[in-house]
Amino acid sequence: MYTLITGGTGFIGKRLIKKLSAEGRQIKCLVREKSDTSIIDFPDVKFVIGDVKDPVSVKLALEDVDVIYHLAARAHPSLIKPYKHYEEVNVLGTRNILDTAISSEGIKKIVLMSSIAATGPSRDGKLLNENSPLKPITNYGISKVEVEKIASEYHKKYSLPIVVIRPPMVYGIGDKDWVGFFKMIKEASVSGKSLPIPGSHENLFDFCFVDNLVEGLIGAEKSEKTIGQTYFLSDGRPYKISEILSEITKSLNTGYPKKFWPKWWTMTLSTILEGIGYVFRFDPPLARRDVKWMTSNYWVCDCTKAKKDFRYNPKISLEEGIRRTLDWAQKQGLV
Ligand SMILES: NC(=O)c1ccc[n+]([C@@H]2O[C@H](COP(=O)([O-])OP(=O)(O)OC[C@H]3O[C@@H](n4cnc5c(N)ncnc54)[C@H](OP(=O)(O)O)[C@@H]3O)[C@@H](O)[C@H]2O)c1
Repeated sequence: MYTLITGGTGFIGKRLIKKLSAEGRQIKCLVREKSDTSIIDFPDVKFVIGDVKDPVSVKLALEDVDVIYHLAARAHPSLIKPYKHYEEVNVLGTRNILDTAISSEGIKKIVLMSSIAATGPSRDGKLLNENSPLKPITNYGISKVEVEKIASEYHKKYSLPIVVIRPPMVYGIGDKDWVGFFKMIKEASVSGKSLPIPGSHENLFDFCFVDNLVEGLIGAEKSEKTIGQTYFLSDGRPYKISEILSEITKSLNTGYPKKFWPKWWTMTLSTILEGIGYVFRFDPPLARRDVKWMTSNYWVCDCTKAKKDFRYNPKISLEEGIRRTLDWAQKQGLV
């Protein structure tokens, strides 16, 4: 039987395939016609061309499958994209997968990717957990709340063996989004220019190294205890912003940046950029919610439940994760 992965050509999916291939699994990926499958460099992976929006290709993909990792999504939160943009892939795609799974024989586990975006940020500075209310602040987050509702409905109504995973921001090898952040820090450290990260840097931020997440996804799949449950998976503890900056500059071999934008200026500029973005329909490079994570305990979560239920044990430290990511980015000539 096959393990099916949707979103296998994405940042997290590629790392998941690498790990599952090493376990000797038979892997199938549902990919789009335009997906770049050359980046999945494992000869035994079988591709089914289709789309999660298309129930016919989903049915084909689910043949001879006993485990599903459903990662495919429109995964980038936007201030201007309408809910429909996320709904048509994230919500309807999930419904197609689960509708097909109901009538498939022998499904042992379905691992569904949600996100911390479903709860939204911490409002009181305390770590979010699986009992925190769902208060998303983006259309992406609203779509993930819907995904979780559908998961719960299908688990209760049809006894589908689903586990829902909510990572915070994920970083690591293959993620080009973080490269810009590294570059900005490098420039500020080397040139002495002010870094647009205001505040005391004593506040906390949770993220997850991609290979820690992959270990957690597979751990959640293999455990009986996780059926019908939801889990936050992070690096195991939140980091101070100063710790993150220290590790990045240590890996870059530059000094710690000396000058930072003041909070009032960063807030003012982000407000103006958001306004212009709304009018001219683009996502601003800096938004007020960015200033919030830079200056308060905003995206923070607790993964104690995963540690307890299936011994989730994120082994790769911040220092090692950043070193591996930078190594990769430097080899690609990106930093
Ligand atoms: N990255 C993070 O920080 C983070 C944090 C929390 C949760 N998550 C969740 O983790 C999952 C994976 O995220 P990621 O960062 O790996 O995303 P990503 O790099 O943007 O990859 C998205 C994947 O979904 C596929 N996809 C998009 N629309 C599809 C469709 N209609 N039919 C079939 N496949 C489709 C893409 O295929 P193409 O190659 O054809 O584009 C790609 O393989 C998502 O569910 C995301 O919401 C991510």
